[in-house]
Amino acid sequence: MAAIASDTDRLLALARAHLPGGGIWTFATRPPGFGKTLDLPDFLIERADGAYVWTTDGERLLDLVLGSGTVLTGHGHPEVVAAVTAQVARVVNASHLTPPAVELSARICAVVPCAERVRFFNSGTEAWAVALRVLRARAGRDRILKFEGAFHGGNDATLFNTSFGDVPTWAAAPIPTPDTPGTARSEAANVITAPYDDIDATRAIALAHRDELAAILCEPVMRGIAARPGFLEGLRELADEIHVPLVFDEVITGFRLGLGGAQAHYGVTPDLALFGKALGSGFPIGVIAGSEEVMEPLDPGAPDGIRVVAEGSTLANPLSATAALATLDILSRPGAYEHLHAWGNRLAEGLREAFARHGITIQPTGVGPIVEYYVSDSPVHDYRTALATDLVPKSRLAAGMRRHGVFGGGGRYNCSLAHGDAELAHMLDAVEAILAR
Ligand SMILES: Cc1ncc(COP(=O)(O)O)c(C=O)c1O
Repeated sequence: MAAIASDTDRLLALARAHLPGGGIWTFATRPPGFGKTLDLPDFLIERADGAYVWTTDGERLLDLVLGSGTVLTGHGHPEVVAAVTAQVARVVNASHLTPPAVELSARICAVVPCAERVRFFNSGTEAWAVALRVLRARAGRDRILKFEGAFHGGNDATLFNTSFGDVPTWAAAPIPTPDTPGTARSEAANVITAPYDDIDATRAIALAHRDELAAILCEPVMRGIAARPGFLEGLRELADEIHVPLVFDEVITGFRLGLGGAQAHYGVTPDLALFGKALGSGFPIGVIAGSEEVMEPLDPGAPDGIRVVAEGSTLANPLSATAALATLDILSRPGAYEHLHAWGNRLAEGLREAFARHGITIQPTGVGPIVEYYVSDSPVHDYRTALATDLVPKSRLAAGMRRHGVFGGGGRYNCSLAHGDAELAHMLDAVEAILAR
């Protein structure tokens, strides 16, 4: 008699039959040491609670992915669940002002230094599409300066030299290299690249193009690599000098480094900032925040203003706004950020010690709850040097995690308020066991 397939087998077979690659994402490049193709996804996540997810086979995994860093309060935080459940009964989508969205706008403006006005979207990518339009409309110019390695979401306009690109094929800055087939060739004419954390090189490039630039885009902590002191300040001065707006992509740093994001953490205020991820505790959200003046193209009533089109059926969604309000309540409590920073710092230090025990030197590059490292004897500051390090140990670590009950790869680890001592010990035991092999 044929064995009865488990529900997991059935669902994976369905996924392979109906989803390209049997999964939900596409990667342009493969991790080093893993040949040409990635393994197909081989498990499904059925539910989650706190710091853990459970597969459809009932396997419990410590979660260091956390919905791509969206679930900073921990999965299923009771206050988020209660608030959203109550909101579901009130109104799920209105395509109009709702109380939670209005409350949220005021809360964000109260804590984010650059925010006098905000607009809500469903994702960082969606917010970026409109932000670029606003910036170009204001400037009457098309070109943007972005840093090598920086990812600003999935829009064609910025999918150049991101962390999804193939670094060895990159042209030298400032010439952009598209990351994916399907990017219109004309997009490249609007992008100028610069090396992250190198203010002199950035300055030279920006000055050479000062009359063409609509904005300078910067992830204040770029793909888990924190800039050296002075870089963000230098960018601020440069932007002021050439009268080009400085835009911080705070989709990762926002509400994670602190309520005021990287701009409050580092004391450098951009002209415009983008948020998403952690704000929504997993509910879809994206935000553009800026001064009244920079945000004016989004004001249909602005006198003699330039108005950009920015529409969407689910914008300022009341469920996402409700989740965000609950998230801000939770994150505002004393000790929340101390916990997140301490946990991240302890993980970074634990990783350094674990690798050192096996004779390998790593460079932790993150900050607080943004945990990243590279296997290298010398400090890592930008994306090219990061990718020139030995990436094979990181890939091997990533591949071994699940066997040790961890969902999450070889770096860019996320944590939440639900990650405590037991979870830290679990993670470091897993790392030690994989390194020992
Ligand atoms: C820095 C940064 N900007 C923008 C985005 C895009 O945001 P979303 O995934 O919500 O579209 C991401 C996503 O990972 C990101 O890391």
